[in-house]
Amino acid sequence: MKLKFGNVEENVVTREEFPLEKAREVLKNEVIAVLGYGVQGPGQALNLKDNGFNVIVGQRKGSKTWDKAVADGWVPGETLFELEEACEKGTILQFLLSDAGQIALWPTVKKHLTPGKALYFSHGFGVTYKEKTGIVPPADVDVILVAPKGSGTSLRRMFVEGRGLNSSYAIYQDATGNAKDRVVALGIGVGSGYLFETDFYREVTSDLTGERGTLMGAIQGIFAAQYEVLRANGHTPSEAFNETVEELTQSLMPLVAENGMDWMYANCSTTAQRGALDWWKPFRDATKPVFEELYDSVKTGKEAQKSIDSNSKTDYREKLEEELKELRESEMWQAGAVVRQLRPENN
Ligand SMILES: NC(=O)c1ccc[n+]([C@@H]2O[C@H](COP(=O)([O-])OP(=O)(O)OC[C@H]3O[C@@H](n4cnc5c(N)ncnc54)[C@H](OP(=O)(O)O)[C@@H]3O)[C@@H](O)[C@H]2O)c1
Repeated sequence: MKLKFGNVEENVVTREEFPLEKAREVLKNEVIAVLGYGVQGPGQALNLKDNGFNVIVGQRKGSKTWDKAVADGWVPGETLFELEEACEKGTILQFLLSDAGQIALWPTVKKHLTPGKALYFSHGFGVTYKEKTGIVPPADVDVILVAPKGSGTSLRRMFVEGRGLNSSYAIYQDATGNAKDRVVALGIGVGSGYLFETDFYREVTSDLTGERGTLMGAIQGIFAAQYEVLRANGHTPSEAFNETVEELTQSLMPLVAENGMDWMYANCSTTAQRGALDWWKPFRDATKPVFEELYDSVKTGKEAQKSIDSNSKTDYREKLEEELKELRESEMWQAGAVVRQLRPENN
C-alpha cells in the first residue's frame, strides 16, 4: 500500500496485506538456504522454520558456529550442510555471511546460481560496491534484498514475543518475473513487522551512515563528551553515568519510542523542556558538518573499503575484541556495569 510519511508517499507492505499463508503459498516449492550462521543467520533461519518454510542452513564445519547451529536444532545432513552443499540444494540462497566473508565465498555461490534461482542479501553492500567485492550476479537469477532494521538477535527475540522488527526490501534484478512476490514473502517469512521499499544503493548508504552516526558511533561520541565534561567538573562517576546514559535508556527513550520526542519533552519538567528546546539546535549545528563528512565518506566508497580491508584480516576478531575491551574498561562503561547491577530487577 502507499503511505504518506510527512508529505512523501512511499510503498509499504504489511502483514495484513501479505499474510503468512500467502507467503507460504509463494514459496511452497522453494528450498531456502541460509548461508552463514552469525547474527542474522540464526534469526532469519529460525523464524522461517517456525513460520513453516522449507529451510536449510549452510555453515562451514569445524567452527564454533557449526556447533551453535547444531545446538539450535539444525541436523547435519538433513537441515545443516557445508556451505557449498547448501548452495547446491537451495533455490533461494540467503547470503548471510559477514560482508567480507561474502567476497571469499562468492566464487562458490556463483557456481551454483543456476537460472531461476534467487540470490538474497540483507545488505546492499556486496552488489553496490561490486568493483571492490567482485560480486556480480548472473543475469538469469533474481537478486533481492530484505534488510531487517536491527540486530538478528532482536529479530528473533521480537518474533518469539509475537512482535516484529521492520525491514526494508529491494529488487536489484527480476529475472523470473516473480522477484517481487519472492522478496515480500521472504520478508514476511523472516518475521518482519512491515516492509518498506528501497533500492540496494539507498539501503547501503543509509545503513552505513546510520550505524556510524546516531545509532552507534555518534551516540557513543556524545555520551563520552558529556561524561568527560561532567567528570572534569567534579561530578562522581555514578552521577555522570546516570545523567548521560542510564536515564536516557531506562526512562526517556522508551517514551520517545512510544510517542515521539515532543511527547517525551512534554512529560519532563518545565525546566528540562526549556533547556532541551534551547539546546537541540546548537547540537544539530555542531554535528551536522561531521554527518556531512560521514555521508561523503560512505558515498565515495571509503567506508566500504575500510570495512573490507579490516574485516578480511585473519586476526579481525582479536583486534575487534581489543577495541571493545577499551570501551568496556573505560570509566564510563565500568560505572555502567555497576549501575546495571543496582537496578532493582537485577537484584
Ligand atoms: N548483524 C546484524 O544484525 C545485521 C543486521 C542487518 C543486516 N545484516 C547483514 O546481514 C549479513 C550477515 O551479517 P551478520 O552480522 O549476521 O554476519 P556475521 O555474524 O559476521 O556472519 C558470520 C558468518 O559468516 C561466516 N563467515 C565469515 N567469513 C567466512 C568465510 N571467509 N568463509 C566462510 N564463512 C565465513 C561465519 O562463519 P564462522 O563463524 O565459521 O566464521 C558466520 O557463519 C551482512 O550482509 C550484514 O550486513 C546484519
